[in-house]
Amino acid sequence: MIRTVRATQYITALREGGSLPAIVAADDLGLYVLKFRGAGQGPLALVAELVAGEIGRRLGLKVPELVFVEIGAAFGRNEPDQEIRDLIRRSVGLNLALDYLPGSTMFDPAAGDTTDPGIASLAVWFDAFVSNVDRTPRNANLLNWHRQLYFIDHGAALYWQHDWPNATSKAESPFPEARHHILLPWASDLAAADATARQRLNQAVFTEILDLVPDAWLAPHPSLEASESEDRTGQAVSRRAAYVDILIRRLNASPRFVQEAARAHAELV
Ligand SMILES: Nc1ncnc2c1ncn2[C@@H]1O[C@H](COP(=O)(O)OP(=O)(O)O)[C@@H](O)[C@H]1O
Ligand SMILES: [Mg+2]
Repeated sequence: MIRTVRATQYITALREGGSLPAIVAADDLGLYVLKFRGAGQGPLALVAELVAGEIGRRLGLKVPELVFVEIGAAFGRNEPDQEIRDLIRRSVGLNLALDYLPGSTMFDPAAGDTTDPGIASLAVWFDAFVSNVDRTPRNANLLNWHRQLYFIDHGAALYWQHDWPNATSKAESPFPEARHHILLPWASDLAAADATARQRLNQAVFTEILDLVPDAWLAPHPSLEASESEDRTGQAVSRRAAYVDILIRRLNASPRFVQEAARAHAELV
């Protein structure tokens, strides 16, 4: 289950990436890193953040808790920055956020950070599975927190969701981008990671995860204005089934991307 909280205060913008996430406070007195539905990447970035993040969690990787965040009409109205006010206005309603990890630092091998082969191999498998290119030395999206590694920023994963006509063929991609993965040097156990992943992921798991995604993010533009909500529900149901189908195909294609990643790892050592 994903909890829903209400945003109470805009604390600060995080300007590293392009999507302008923000640290916000919520009515459960928690702090969260909010991903705005109204950001340029659109609601599908939130779908990727949610679906890929929960897949990572089911694999056994640490992902900060994901919550839905309700933004009310008055929230952030006094923000001085016009760009931020506009972003908030476009995002009134439901958004997605990650539990904020205070005091965390970005994983940095140049600063001596290392990890164990089990986690690294599962991480490389995970990012190949969800086609996530955002885990490189320049852009690690991996937080050290309480001496454990946390995986964040999956908004660009599942890129095939932007191109359904070609999604099926892309589901079988070997994902050569794994050679840029920041944890590849430690990923010496890819065969074991593959076996673990195949035990932990299946159609029931993917269905459960897709059921978490709000209809409106999957079918933002109902084609018929009459019976609008009914049409949206129908579209969302078939979209969910399409995601599950692609994820199953990807799982069945894992030998391809595992072989590719193992070859890239062997070239490093
Ligand atoms: N849960 C979190 N806890 C602490 N800091 C975070 C968290 N999520 C993101 N950050 C910080 O915010 C930055 C931007 O967030 P990220 O999800 O990577 O978005 P993007 O790169 O798309 O802007 C990260 O690089 C990290 O420094
Ligand atoms: Mg990032």
